Amino acid sequence: MLVTGAAGGIGAAVAAGFVAAGAQVVAADLPGRAAPGGVRAALGTDLSDPAACTALVGAAVDRLGGLDVVAHLAGVMRRRADLADVTEDDWDVQHDVNLKSAFFLLRAAAEQMRRQGGGGRLVAAASQGWWSGGYGGSAVYASTKGGLVSLCRGLARTYGPDGITVNTVAPGAIDTPMLTTDLAPGALDSIVEATPLGRVGTPAEVASAVLFLSSARASFITAATLNVSGGWLAY
Ligand SMILES: NC(=O)c1ccc[n+]([C@@H]2O[C@H](COP(=O)([O-])OP(=O)(O)OC[C@H]3O[C@@H](n4cnc5c(N)ncnc54)[C@H](O)[C@@H]3O)[C@@H](O)[C@H]2O)c1
Repeated sequence: MLVTGAAGGIGAAVAAGFVAAGAQVVAADLPGRAAPGGVRAALGTDLSDPAACTALVGAAVDRLGGLDVVAHLAGVMRRRADLADVTEDDWDVQHDVNLKSAFFLLRAAAEQMRRQGGGGRLVAAASQGWWSGGYGGSAVYASTKGGLVSLCRGLARTYGPDGITVNTVAPGAIDTPMLTTDLAPGALDSIVEATPLGRVGTPAEVASAVLFLSSARASFITAATLNVSGGWLAY
C-alpha cells in the first residue's frame, strides 16, 4: 500500500497501523521529512506537482509489484484569522496540495488498479471543514476539503464497476502540529467543549478508520465520508 503525508501526525500513524497489520508500505512525504519505521520504501516528493503524483504511483508499483491501497493524507492548512488576510498564494498552495494532488494521484492509482483487475481501496483525508465551510479565514482550506469529498464521490462512481472503493475520512480536532499551528487562543478549548466526547482525538484513532475503510470489512462502502470527530459536528 501507499501512504502520503507519511511523516505527518496522521500519516505516520496510518503507516504504523499498516506495518503492524503486516502490509508492505511505501511511504511518501516532502523530501527531507522523516520516514516512519518498518516501511518497504520512503520516497520524498512534492505532490503539488501532478507529474510527481503519477510518478509516485509508478514508483510504488515498482517497489510493491502492484498497488492495492492508497491512503492520501498529505495536506496543508494556512490558518488566517480573517478572509481578508487570505492571499492568492494561500489559495494556490492549499488547492494544489489538498485537492489537485488528490485528483492526479488517485486517478493514476485507480487506473493502475483497473489494469491489475483485482479491485482496490482509495482513502483520502477530508476535514470537518468539508461540511461546515470552515470559520473565518479557513474557508479556503475548507473548500479544498469540500472539493475532495465531491471528487472522491465522482471517482467512486467511475471506478466502482472495477471493484475499487473510494472513501474519505473527516477528522475533527486531532492532536498533531496542524491542529494548534496559528490557532487563536481559547479556540481549542471551545472545540473540546463542543465535542461530545470532550477531548481531541489521537492520530491512531484516525488511522483505525483509514485501516477499516482499506479492509475487506468495508467491502460495500464507497463514496462515503467517515466522521472521526468525537461528535464535534453530527452528520
Ligand atoms: N490534525 C487535524 O486536526 C486534522 C483535522 C482535519 C483534517 N486533517 C487532515 O488530515 C491530513 C493529515 O494531517 P496531519 O494532522 O497529520 O498534518 P501534518 O501537518 O502533521 O501532516 C501533513 C503531511 O503532509 C505533508 N505534505 C505537505 N505538503 C506536501 C506536498 N506538497 N507533498 C507531499 N507531502 C506534503 C507534510 O510534510 C506533512 O508531513 C491532512 O490532509 C489534513 O488536512 C487534519
